[in-house]
Amino acid sequence: MEKIISLCKRRGFVFQGSEIYGGLAGTWDYGHLGLALKNNIKSLWWKMFVTDREDMYGVDAAILMQGKVWEVSGHTSTFADPLVECEKCKRRFRADHLENSEKCPECGGKLGEPRMFNMMFQTKVGAQDAVTSYLRPETAQGVFTNFKNTVDSFHPKLPFGIAQIGKAFRNEISPRDFIFRVRELEQMEVEYFVKPDEWQAEFEKWRENVREWVKLLGLKNVHEVEIKEEDRAHYSARTVDFEYDYPFGQNELLGLACRTDFDLKNHMKGSGVELEYFDEETKEKFVPFVIEPSFGVERALLAVLVESYTEDELGGEPRVFLKLPKHLAPIRAAIFPLLKNKPELVAKAREVFMMLKKDFPNVVFDDNGNIGKRYRRQDEIGTPFCITIDFDTLGEKPELLGTVTLRDRDSGEQKRVNIEELKEALK
Ligand code: GAP
Repeated sequence: MEKIISLCKRRGFVFQGSEIYGGLAGTWDYGHLGLALKNNIKSLWWKMFVTDREDMYGVDAAILMQGKVWEVSGHTSTFADPLVECEKCKRRFRADHLENSEKCPECGGKLGEPRMFNMMFQTKVGAQDAVTSYLRPETAQGVFTNFKNTVDSFHPKLPFGIAQIGKAFRNEISPRDFIFRVRELEQMEVEYFVKPDEWQAEFEKWRENVREWVKLLGLKNVHEVEIKEEDRAHYSARTVDFEYDYPFGQNELLGLACRTDFDLKNHMKGSGVELEYFDEETKEKFVPFVIEPSFGVERALLAVLVESYTEDELGGEPRVFLKLPKHLAPIRAAIFPLLKNKPELVAKAREVFMMLKKDFPNVVFDDNGNIGKRYRRQDEIGTPFCITIDFDTLGEKPELLGTVTLRDRDSGEQKRVNIEELKEALK
């Protein structure tokens, strides 16, 4: 894990939040490459779960919502973790994460009685007569409060879903394991509305969809865990967690739950607005059930980094590289002139770079340092292809005129390819 964290900082993926002030626990900032990787994950998700389907609608709800939303959803009363405080050093811990529930893991002091700690960040909205609100702890509620708007605007037939990607905030008692447990996170959630008596079958279909997603991320060690009733969230009739083998142990990557009609029914009571669905075919009115696959962006990103981090030996030298799937890699290809001080090589390399950039916006041009070093730099950030323009490209060997070397990140092998064939080769 330390190696991954250090690579992430060194190569501009992830930095500690507020670092120059000593950091703020549970917050992380994303540099140019981390942001690109994160955006690729989010775009892939949106493509798979929204644009490639006909039964999905998007929404982008406000992070701040009326306080009442969180009362009605049950979050003000139940969104809490057990907290214990050490009577000696006053440090606080999450009780269910401690191996020894009596002794402080830091100083060995006696731990007090656990109490429930609500994880929502409270805030005041307005300058006068301010009302209490919360930074949303899940994006899902912004979907439920827009259920009626979506039905009225688009008249979808059941089953259909509403998807949202956005920030959520949780005042975790002990944020830890790099970006695994953070206080400011991003979720990608689907609330899929189904006829109540069809929820089991729809749940299984979503289970399959999630398996496909995990494959797209290139993750191998994923386990499906049926969550026992006593461990499920207050709204859930069934939950299957997808867990990944992180370096610190097997832990939750994402969750799939059946939220029944819990949320819509409660919002109907709380707001007085009718949130029933009218089925045109059967002329029945009812509150749909909800299947919810809920994905954490940071946990997906961390799993992708863990899965792709590789150490090997190439040309007799040790190397570190990210074996990222090419559709996720922040940079698809790097284009190099063999020598920086040969204007004809630089000009040709820039021409190839500009040509490829039209189809692949995430290609880069690099003429810094020797070729070996450039390869290693790109390997370390997971760039699947490197393209070198050399004297043969310009026709030193006439039979190689108009060809370049295309190097494969994983094998380090190079082959000569015509410039016209590059677009196809990079796909
Ligand atoms: N709407 C349902 C919901 O929020 P959850 O299991 O509490 O369910 C869903 O969270 C997903 O959000 C988790 O599977 C995880 O990927 C991500 N997540 C939750 N808390 C997190 C945290 N503190 N840091 C990073 N990711 C988190």
